[in-house]
Amino acid sequence: MQSSFVMVIFGATGDLAQNKLIPSLFSLFKQKQLPTDFFIVGFSRRELSDSDFGSYFKALQDKEGWNEFAKHLSYQKGSFDDISGYSELIDKLKKLDDKIGACVTRFFYLATPPDHYQNILKFLRETKLSEGCGPHFAPLSGASRSKQESKWTRIIIEKPFGKDLETAKALDMKLSEVFEEKQIFRVDHYLGKETMQNIIAFRFANGIFEPVWNKNFIDHVQITWAEEQGVKERGNFFDGVGLLRDVGQNHLMQLVTAVAMESPKSFSKEGVRDARAEVIKKIRCVESSEVSKNIVRGQYENYRSEKNVAKNSNTETFVAMKIFVDTDRMAGVPFYIRMGKKMPKNLVEISVVFIQTCHILFKEYGCPEIGNVLVFRIQPDEGINLRVIAKKPGAKLSLGTVNMNFSYEDQFRTNGADAYEKVLLDIFAGDQMLFNRSDELESSWEFITKILKGWANLGVEPLKYKAGTWGPEEAEALIEKDGRKWI
Ligand code: BG6
Repeated sequence: MQSSFVMVIFGATGDLAQNKLIPSLFSLFKQKQLPTDFFIVGFSRRELSDSDFGSYFKALQDKEGWNEFAKHLSYQKGSFDDISGYSELIDKLKKLDDKIGACVTRFFYLATPPDHYQNILKFLRETKLSEGCGPHFAPLSGASRSKQESKWTRIIIEKPFGKDLETAKALDMKLSEVFEEKQIFRVDHYLGKETMQNIIAFRFANGIFEPVWNKNFIDHVQITWAEEQGVKERGNFFDGVGLLRDVGQNHLMQLVTAVAMESPKSFSKEGVRDARAEVIKKIRCVESSEVSKNIVRGQYENYRSEKNVAKNSNTETFVAMKIFVDTDRMAGVPFYIRMGKKMPKNLVEISVVFIQTCHILFKEYGCPEIGNVLVFRIQPDEGINLRVIAKKPGAKLSLGTVNMNFSYEDQFRTNGADAYEKVLLDIFAGDQMLFNRSDELESSWEFITKILKGWANLGVEPLKYKAGTWGPEEAEALIEKDGRKWI
């Protein structure tokens, strides 16, 4: 990338900046993917000097190249709900424009807890920071301050985008008062994952799958999103949000979309976003009265003793559900989804299970219970596995399953680009394809809000499960009552 930029990170001392944003920016710097003139300004409530801010990233400090990178970091102390920090930020940014002698493109990255978004947007607008470098510097000679100037700014907003349908709509309204759609980047980093992008390439670049990718051949789909860790240091954030909002409303919806979408009209920003939006719109809402039948809500034992978690918390750390996508292609195909913290292992996987036909001819020869399964391993050990039935060696006919495996590591000696690096590069390039459009978010919130309301109406506590297990027993029952099993 060529042009200079400044990225202001609101919430710069938080978890996201620490673990994802700064490490990814550092990595891009080392790969020489950042321009010569780039500036990263941390904005947070803590009292820190520029150099304190640099030394805040302890895990990176001893790495080669860090000292060079750290020269691009500076810090602005400020409270998100008080104008004074923003006013000082204006002076800081003006100095950068003057140093470069041009309007430096400004990226405002909201990496704070979501409660602060509305306030930050309000102050960005009030101080006119949202409008770019402003009157102190005329980017186009003689040009009046116009919408054209707004191209010098972009807003990046992290998930969860709101708390429910109503708050998501309100946030979107606020965003559109301050920024134009082309300036807005609503992040779901799962869209930036190599393996997620590959599902679309795999499905639509290989003509052999399209004829069988529908309800006539697919028996069901299973999606597992599992993390070994609990809430760790994020109790404060997580306890107010819960797993359904934290990953269900966004990452899991996108995994469903990748499997169920139609071929985009074109491989363009709007083509792909339209195809995604269409699937999310067609996910059948689970009515309140059906919630207890089709959704299992769990909480791991001892969750309530975690740091910064309420002693009587009913926040869910596990969810299993059975849903349907009512499109011509997928009508009637159940999607069984489970997501959980404190699971036996880290695993994000989609299994597309095809209708079993083995018994038609080979009933007595050891047809496995489940035949063809195509597994997309999102992480770890990124890759794809196709399970097929084959004859075992020997004089007597006996069948078994074998795996045809593609592993990124074996094939390309890499697990692919980091998702946040991809997200950042697309922001710099102004490419919104892998960012949520507001209609996608609205539809997914509609679906999620119904479940949240259903739980509130039921008024029962989440089911307990032991750490290191696959959630409450009821999650097994959810799929077993249909005569199927988690893979
Ligand atoms: C985040 C969630 O969006 O994704 C976290 O807030 C979760 O709870 C994380 O741990 C998982 O991301 P990844 O890329 O490690 O799968």
